[in-house]
Amino acid sequence: MNQETFKPGLEGVVAGESAIACVEQDDLLYRGYAIADLAAHATFEEVAYLLLYGELPNREQLEWFKADLFHLRSLSAGVLDALRLIPPEADAMDTLRTIVSMAGHFDPINYAEPDAIRRRSLWLIAQIAGIIAARNRLQNGQEPLPPKPGLSHAAQLLYQSLGVEPAPVETRLLDLTLILYAEHEFNASTFTARVICSTQSDMVSAVVGAIGALKGPLHGGANEGVTKLLTRFDSADEARTWVRESLARHENVVGFGHRVYKNGDHRATILERELHPMVEARGATGLMAIYDGIRDVMENEKKIYMNLDYPSGLTYYLLGLPIEMYTPIFAAARISGWCAHCMEQRNNNRLYRPLSRYTGPAHRVLVPLESRTGWLERAVPDFSQALHG
Ligand SMILES: CC(C)(COP(=O)(O)OP(=O)(O)OC[C@H]1O[C@@H](n2cnc3c(N)ncnc32)[C@H](O)[C@@H]1OP(=O)(O)O)[C@@H](O)C(=O)NCCC(=O)NCCS
Repeated sequence: MNQETFKPGLEGVVAGESAIACVEQDDLLYRGYAIADLAAHATFEEVAYLLLYGELPNREQLEWFKADLFHLRSLSAGVLDALRLIPPEADAMDTLRTIVSMAGHFDPINYAEPDAIRRRSLWLIAQIAGIIAARNRLQNGQEPLPPKPGLSHAAQLLYQSLGVEPAPVETRLLDLTLILYAEHEFNASTFTARVICSTQSDMVSAVVGAIGALKGPLHGGANEGVTKLLTRFDSADEARTWVRESLARHENVVGFGHRVYKNGDHRATILERELHPMVEARGATGLMAIYDGIRDVMENEKKIYMNLDYPSGLTYYLLGLPIEMYTPIFAAARISGWCAHCMEQRNNNRLYRPLSRYTGPAHRVLVPLESRTGWLERAVPDFSQALHG
């Protein structure tokens, strides 16, 4: 084995080729389109279509895509029954993982159809949004709502979750976060999905694995941590003092830093620019001052910049969404990227099978079982006593 190729966390390693997204220090492109242009001129549905088909849709294609998303959104009775069986205190991402897996058994796609794999992607995009909304309703003792005709994907997610048709400004903000979260090349969850697909396993298995990877606080879970952080302070001064003390203790502040972006995450600034009307509308200027205070200390004094989870945590809070929905909503966006990557991996597959550097003991003599004494007495004498006592 060539030891020199070892990079902890695969940092800086090119682990595959992809035509889906280009993530560079100062650039993020989806299929060649700058994220700022997509954020300004496209909707999540157009972006999802772009990721799955490689091109932006024309009006007719978009209408067809939206109609399919609407029709594929309703949850089957088996899935709803399974949702009701999950304890209300269960983690929301664990719930999503289980229910997406369950939904896979009720997949309506006809695999004789040409393009079935893309339709399965569409079905997954629609179902995940439906599952997240239904889970929120059930947790609040309410029945899941059927999708309402005429709503966009983002508006539908808000409507089915909260039971109220959102205002255009609310729809726009959620839609924007979905666009910004939709795709980010070989991040941990997408890479997980690709590894699973590389074994020629199925797309639902890949998505279930990706949900598990996204759950972690170093990946998707960070947006929840941001809201918990912002809402624990009474003033910006208190927040600034806490950040300085935290940095002095060499603790990581959630919502900051990125494995790739070292000079700032342009997605975060795109979202932050659109937050102010909502902050005013919600009378949340005090919270915004805390948000600004933490960001300024991190950026000016530590030169570590906010990532997308920082403004998105605040966005979801202002939208009135419960904290446990934040990471599932990230999944509802990234599912479009995961599916695009699954298709790409299948079309040009090579099984992922890297090597590891062995750090265990050198070759040892195997002692037969009857001669292996001492371990229990030496390592866990109390346990040994308990066993016999
Ligand atoms: C995302 C993250 C895991 C990337 O980590 P990474 O690329 O491995 O960066 P490193 O851990 O090597 O950090 C490099 C330096 O920046 C510091 N740093 C990185 N993120 C930091 C943060 N959020 N707060 C404080 N310091 C941070 C590290 O302590 C380290 O400092 P050192 O060189 O003095 O030891 C990391 O920034 C982090 O934990 N952020 C908080 C969680 C988060 O927001 N996750 C969402 C990511 S999109």
